[in-house]
Amino acid sequence: MKILAVNGSPRGAGGNTEVLLQAFLRGAQEAGAETEVIYLKDKDIKHCLGCFTCWTKTPGVCVHKDDMSAIMEKMKGQDVMVYAFPLYIFTFPGLFKDFMDRLLPFAQPIIEKRGDHFIHPPRWGKGLRRSVLISNAGFSETHHFDGLKKTFQLLNDGPDTEVLGEICCAAGPLLKIPELTDEVKWYPDAAYKAGIEVVNEGRISSETQEILDRSLAPDSESYANMVNSYWAGLGIEKIEADEFVAKADESPTDKALSPPSSVETIHDLIAAMPLAFKSEAAGDLEAVFQFDITDEDPGDYYLTIADGICTAYEGTHPDPNATIRTPADVWLKISRGQMNGAAAFMTGKYKVTGNLQLLMKMEKLFSRPS
Ligand SMILES: Cc1cc2nc3c(=O)[nH]c(=O)nc-3n(C[C@H](O)[C@H](O)[C@H](O)COP(=O)(O)O)c2cc1C
Repeated sequence: MKILAVNGSPRGAGGNTEVLLQAFLRGAQEAGAETEVIYLKDKDIKHCLGCFTCWTKTPGVCVHKDDMSAIMEKMKGQDVMVYAFPLYIFTFPGLFKDFMDRLLPFAQPIIEKRGDHFIHPPRWGKGLRRSVLISNAGFSETHHFDGLKKTFQLLNDGPDTEVLGEICCAAGPLLKIPELTDEVKWYPDAAYKAGIEVVNEGRISSETQEILDRSLAPDSESYANMVNSYWAGLGIEKIEADEFVAKADESPTDKALSPPSSVETIHDLIAAMPLAFKSEAAGDLEAVFQFDITDEDPGDYYLTIADGICTAYEGTHPDPNATIRTPADVWLKISRGQMNGAAAFMTGKYKVTGNLQLLMKMEKLFSRPS
């Protein structure tokens, strides 16, 4: 049996999900399965554009050229898929959601009736349709997984699809506390047994599933006390929401971008703008320009100008004077003098909100990159 696991934790092999995944895979290997793990955090997986090209012009093939095509090729040859990730906001982390969205080429656009409801028939992949769900959550109450389990059931709701079992571990951060290893060992042990059962019996037995459905910390009051003492040990206490806003305003946490060695991308261009800044032209100007870069190379950046210094940041400023919403290639062309900025604005190639006059000054504030 070939089992391919996808770990969708942004913490990858260093996370709590990995403890459960490895226990499950050890069991599966013990029972003779061939296993492999893909760590999504190390892969280049772009967001689905929603263009439906994979259903129309190039059936089964996405417009993006990134790591997803190799992953999908690999998925085609599996008997069982294991989807493992931490619970984020009651569901998948964005990393895993991007991966799931990008599986659209595996479905056909047609909708047809299977049983009592309609589905998109699959284009490929028996293994895609036999899967194990592995997750862990910071809270100790198992109902945190209700939405995720429902989503997973809907995803696999067809006569030819099967969820072979769910390993959803509440209070998952306890798994990696060295002092508690013996206390919590019963859970990874059950995950290990689940691995053996999936290979030998084709699914997780009801007895093992019953164990896996229990919380690592059934006494939520004690767990909350423990978590809060941990934070207190780090000097983190509860504060009122308004206090937080004041603190956040005082200390912006975005990191200034370092100047790049060459300008290839929009990220490079914005990081290089402080070098092209003409402080004598700025005088005593104080301004924040926010860039909302769309399309192929999306991102959020901003430039601050104060005391004759321009600094570039990645992120979103809470109170910019002007926001420029532009595709990356349009701004790159304008900055290289290959496109007229004013004409591009008039024809809607980019959009500006906030202080337009300030934006018009930009031309004078920066020299063109050579
Ligand atoms: C953005 C974010 C959202 C989260 N949402 C939830 C949640 O809705 N419920 C919950 O119990 N834990 C939540 N957590 C906690 C994680 O599930 C928990 O820390 C988990 O152990 C992380 O697993 P990992 O180490 O494999 O990444 C969240 C964590 C983050 C960073």
